[in-house]
Amino acid sequence: MALLRVHSLVCIFATWFISLVSSACECGYSVNSTLDPEYAVFTDLLESDFTKIKNFKDDFDWRPQVWQLDPVAALGPYGRATVLEAIVPNPAVNVSINATGIYGGQAGLNLLVPHNYTLINGEKYLMGAELDSTRNDMFYGTFRIGYRTTKYPGTCFGFYWYHDDNQEIDIELLSRQINATDTLINLVLHTPVGGTNLDALPGTYQVADLPYNTSAQIHELRFDWTPSAITWYQDGRQIWTISNTTLFPQQPGHIVVTHWSNGNPLWSAGPPEGNAALVLTYVKAYFNSSDSQRQKDHRERCEAVGGGGAVCQIPSPVGPPRYEGVSPDELPYFFSNDPARNATYNQTVYEEKTSGGGKRRSEAIGSGLAVWMLFLQWGIPVLGFMLGEWRPRIGGYMHSLY
Ligand SMILES: *[C@@H]1O[C@H](CO)[C@@H](O)[C@H](O)[C@H]1NC(C)=O
Ligand SMILES: *[C@@H]1O[C@H](CO)[C@@H](O)[C@H](O)[C@H]1NC(C)=O
Ligand SMILES: *[C@@H]1O[C@H](CO)[C@@H](O)[C@H](O)[C@H]1NC(C)=O
Ligand SMILES: *[C@@H]1O[C@H](CO)[C@@H](O)[C@H](O)[C@H]1NC(C)=O
Ligand SMILES: *[C@@H]1O[C@H](CO)[C@@H](O)[C@H](O)[C@H]1NC(C)=O
Ligand SMILES: *[C@@H]1O[C@H](CO)[C@@H](O)[C@H](O)[C@H]1NC(C)=O
Ligand SMILES: *[C@@H]1O[C@H](CO)[C@@H](O)[C@H](O)[C@H]1NC(C)=O
Ligand SMILES: *[C@@H]1O[C@H](CO)[C@@H](O)[C@H](O)[C@H]1NC(C)=O
Ligand SMILES: *[C@@H]1O[C@H](CO)[C@@H](O)[C@H](O)[C@H]1NC(C)=O
Ligand SMILES: *[C@@H]1O[C@H](CO)[C@@H](O)[C@H](O)[C@H]1NC(C)=O
Repeated sequence: MALLRVHSLVCIFATWFISLVSSACECGYSVNSTLDPEYAVFTDLLESDFTKIKNFKDDFDWRPQVWQLDPVAALGPYGRATVLEAIVPNPAVNVSINATGIYGGQAGLNLLVPHNYTLINGEKYLMGAELDSTRNDMFYGTFRIGYRTTKYPGTCFGFYWYHDDNQEIDIELLSRQINATDTLINLVLHTPVGGTNLDALPGTYQVADLPYNTSAQIHELRFDWTPSAITWYQDGRQIWTISNTTLFPQQPGHIVVTHWSNGNPLWSAGPPEGNAALVLTYVKAYFNSSDSQRQKDHRERCEAVGGGGAVCQIPSPVGPPRYEGVSPDELPYFFSNDPARNATYNQTVYEEKTSGGGKRRSEAIGSGLAVWMLFLQWGIPVLGFMLGEWRPRIGGYMHSLY
């Protein structure tokens, strides 16, 4: 009994101590509380609130991709043309009032797959979009995306961590696998011991059933990678886990979001019957870095506040992210949108030009600008294809993308 009392006093003291110092997050961000039996701490973060990002060129956390695969290389009747024009921001007028974007509809970043093919050197290509994170040093982490799929069958939405084809933690959602009540998602751990997607090793591929139509509202997909488990979640609920660590990635990587079609009936199918829009409201990643400079930065800022106590728990609500009819403090949470809390000190984060807070690495700025210079030079001829699931609203350059 005496022992028990001492123990609970220690707990109360620990809670008090943590709440005193945890307003800043110099030592990291945790899944579960550090007082829980199982938890994981990550040192670095990447947060993109796409309901607020007006100029995607200001978001140096992402490198929008431009590449082509001809129909043979793309394994489809169609080739794949990954273009910047298929990435279209539609930020909320004021997300604290409602989630209506400046062009109408759900606010967020649109990744588009147009219905119509485009001819390149006489061959048919379907256009699509891909974002790769600028950070390429992610090793362990919790990776989360707020999304709403297209209602048109015939596209593939991928959200994955990637080192190479043998070290990849993957979620793929085929819009042909959506019906009125359910959506199937394909979860894959690509391993060094062979197998990809449908021919993956037993135990590395799982089809999970989400009990809703993913094109009707925003939901969250997530995967956590720790030294002991890789676990997938939907709307905060666990759906699958792998704990055979010999299959786990061994090298650092980056995250990718992609929306594409090649017309192959065995996978993406398509082309989609209309202009297909995948809407992203956020990506949040809390991860450890393989970069020795970032590791040193973490050690220094954590030691400067006296060590391990300054860990902030990552909010992990159960249920879909909510945007309509909620008060501002019930919107999805971002440490980097909370300057009063000083929760992203010395992190490499996206920030609006006017606000203070995090710090950005200079090399990321260079690559972001280079890509967007290309967009400005080459964007205009392609504007004609945007009709259907998104509609033209107002005149002007960005508006004509709708
Ligand atoms: C968080 O706690 C839950 C049980 O409450 C557990 O299943 C999960 O693995 C924990 N996550 C981590 C990263 O430890
Ligand atoms: C958004 O709306 C809220 C609530 O009405 C208001 O307090 C806030 O100032 C608005 N923000 C902007 C940028 O207009
Ligand atoms: C969102 O708020 C704006 C401004 O109050 C209003 O014009 C618009 O109709 C609202 N949208 C919805 C879907 O309620
Ligand atoms: C596809 O192209 C055809 C021919 O130009 C056009 O009539 C049609 O409206 C386009 N469809 C969509 C969905 O853009
Ligand atoms: C899923 O929901 C969307 C939006 O409500 C709707 O347009 C679509 O028809 C639904 N899909 C199916 C297969 O019922
Ligand atoms: C919808 O998809 C689920 C999961 O594949 C399946 O169990 C269900 O029977 C489907 N419903 C209809 C009406 O086809
Ligand atoms: C991430 O790195 C920190 C600092 O080295 C370490 O304390 C923590 O356990 C690591 N997280 C995981 C999940 O391994
Ligand atoms: C883990 O995976 C490896 C490689 O496929 C396999 O040889 C081993 O038997 C697996 N271990 C367990 C406990 O399933
Ligand atoms: C903050 O980060 C920068 C860039 O990584 C590093 O040079 C610096 O030493 C860090 N400062 C502190 C106090 O952590
Ligand atoms: C944020 O935290 C850092 C590290 O603890 C501290 O040096 C800095 O002064 C704080 N900034 C503000 C605005 O409180």
